[in-house]
Amino acid sequence: SRHFTIAIDGPAAAGKGTLSRRIAETYDFHHLDTGLTYRATAKALLDAGLTLDDEAVAEKMAREVELAGLDRDILSKHEIGEAASKIAVMPAVRRALVEAQRRFSKKAPGTVLDGRDIGTVVCPAAPVKLYVTASPEVRAKRRYDEIRGKGGIADFDAIFEDVKRRDERDMGRADSPLKPAEDAHLLDTSEMSIEAAFQAAKSIIDAAL
Ligand code: C5P
Repeated sequence: SRHFTIAIDGPAAAGKGTLSRRIAETYDFHHLDTGLTYRATAKALLDAGLTLDDEAVAEKMAREVELAGLDRDILSKHEIGEAASKIAVMPAVRRALVEAQRRFSKKAPGTVLDGRDIGTVVCPAAPVKLYVTASPEVRAKRRYDEIRGKGGIADFDAIFEDVKRRDERDMGRADSPLKPAEDAHLLDTSEMSIEAAFQAAKSIIDAAL
């Protein structure tokens, strides 16, 4: 069947989630936030009281993740994100999740996958690849505003340190480090509104469809 894949990668809190959902809605494509697959694996381990350092056990959990049942609200907790980025360094976990993500990417009429390695590893032949980024300061500020906006308590410095630590872990790992694919369009949203970023992405996609 005919399918068109849009690969969206970038660091934590760069705005890929919002952008990906909006693109999927606009083109009526299926959307997968691949970060949720790592988060679901991590949560299953934490819930079962298992340690995060046994690769064979983590792989088994990864193989049991159901893509249809991923719930952003349940998986958004900070501890789960931290645990996810720890198990995401394990090649066996990545192999298991990448297999499921590739199967998802072939749905008709098209798919939007967002994560860290979609353009480089999961869907290297995707006709459209976007690398969405913003400075660590701007990303930390957005996360800070988001938490405050929901009435929560947030410490900017702690969030900023967190963003940088997550970047180091994601960009520094040996298996599938976060980096733009050679043929990715770079979208730096540091000084761009969500609307402007969406319009820029839309022109790139429309030119390739
Ligand atoms: O995007 P999100 O913050 O939900 O992802 C959680 C963690 O999962 C990331 O910090 C990263 O380590 C890992 N991840 C990954 N590859 C992806 C998506 C997420 O390694 N494609």
